[in-house]
Amino acid sequence: MFAVFPKNAVEAPEPSKAEVKGCIPSWLQGTLLRNGPGIFSVGDTSYNHWFDGMAIMHSFTFKHGEMTHRSRFLRGDTYKANMAANRIAVSEMGTMAYPDPSKSVIVKVVTFLNHTVPDFTDNGASNIIKYGNEYHATSETNYIRKIDPVTLDTQDKVDYLKYLPVNLATSHPHYDKEGNAYNIGTSIAEKGKTKYILFKVPAVPEKDKGKNCHALKNARVLCTVPCRSLLTPSYYHSFGMTDNYFIFIEQPFKLDIIRMATAYMRGVNWASCLKFCPEENTLIHLIDRNTGKEVETKYYTGAMVVYHHINAFEDDGHVIFDVIAYSDNKLYDMFYLKKKTDASDVSFAKSSYRRFALPVQADKSIPSAENLVTLKYTTATAVKEKEGKLICQAEVLNEGFDLPRINYDINGKRHRFVYGTCVEESTLKTKKVSFATRDLKLAVISYVETDCSC
Ligand SMILES: [Fe+2]
Repeated sequence: MFAVFPKNAVEAPEPSKAEVKGCIPSWLQGTLLRNGPGIFSVGDTSYNHWFDGMAIMHSFTFKHGEMTHRSRFLRGDTYKANMAANRIAVSEMGTMAYPDPSKSVIVKVVTFLNHTVPDFTDNGASNIIKYGNEYHATSETNYIRKIDPVTLDTQDKVDYLKYLPVNLATSHPHYDKEGNAYNIGTSIAEKGKTKYILFKVPAVPEKDKGKNCHALKNARVLCTVPCRSLLTPSYYHSFGMTDNYFIFIEQPFKLDIIRMATAYMRGVNWASCLKFCPEENTLIHLIDRNTGKEVETKYYTGAMVVYHHINAFEDDGHVIFDVIAYSDNKLYDMFYLKKKTDASDVSFAKSSYRRFALPVQADKSIPSAENLVTLKYTTATAVKEKEGKLICQAEVLNEGFDLPRINYDINGKRHRFVYGTCVEESTLKTKKVSFATRDLKLAVISYVETDCSC
């Protein structure tokens, strides 16, 4: 069942050994770092949305057949301000907060006049990113928070804007074999333009390991993709990367910048400034990593909302990429904490595992209305509408799961297995599932049933 208000987590900063049932293989060595929302109420105030909760970090260290766990809250500026005020004083996506409620009208107006792009939270509850040798707790704002990966201590606050012109950036970067990190962010209305910025944070050379300097100092912009609209850039949560290409989906799920800039004054949350435009199409950008330029062909598909890319790879003149897609924007609303516990009141967002195939260099002699995808193992199509414009239809490989993972060692190569989570609608229990792409169709090969913790 979904709980109406989740309980605040309790941190466990001292390492404790887990009771092991069965056997942890001796080859499994290393530490898994995870984070997520952990504190949902402060004093008499509560967050509206599950994703807003203040971050708690976990480490799971595997060594010699044993597992040690510890957890700590992320003690960023947001945490400190909230705890000092004994109430939620910093706004999150689904919860708007005001520094001093007694002066709210004046504060709202002054804040509106001073901030076109609001100052965002540093509550990094979405993911842990490694840039260089440094680990950061992140959400999707311009602030990330360096952490100690062993003790989980909270360290420096790092502002992307000091190094790169991005107001927002994903918490799902990619990495290459050398440890270089790649990510994408949005630059909002800078010099009258809104654009998407693909950037690289280089790995730290062996000789410089151990030196204390921010990895983002060495970040560089690889490519700039113009936004289709100055004041309504697309919202995106991840992107795809192959050996030679980046895949960026400019979907008609948009951030309304004017509404965001006035949300504080109007007393609404920032999430209400996201709008889905089902009547518009989705533009798929394919960017050549070697030149930093988009390929000439424009790829379009119908309106959809994608949060997670699964993998992308190249094959015989095509770029194939797999995503979890939704036909509307209901997913975010599912996690508002005031939703009833009654299953009949929960409006489920239905996900589908979609595979797209993009022919990279189309033969100009092929007439319009022809499908240019020549791969035998997918029914995905890319039909030529006119020279340089293809209309893509995905192959749906499965439905009903999200939070996909692959063995990242083969990112950019053709994969066989995908791991994810699905919700059993009749019981509202989550299941961890894994899928095999054998016979080009997905089949559940195993699952673990878990209680929904949200
Ligand atoms: Fe995610």
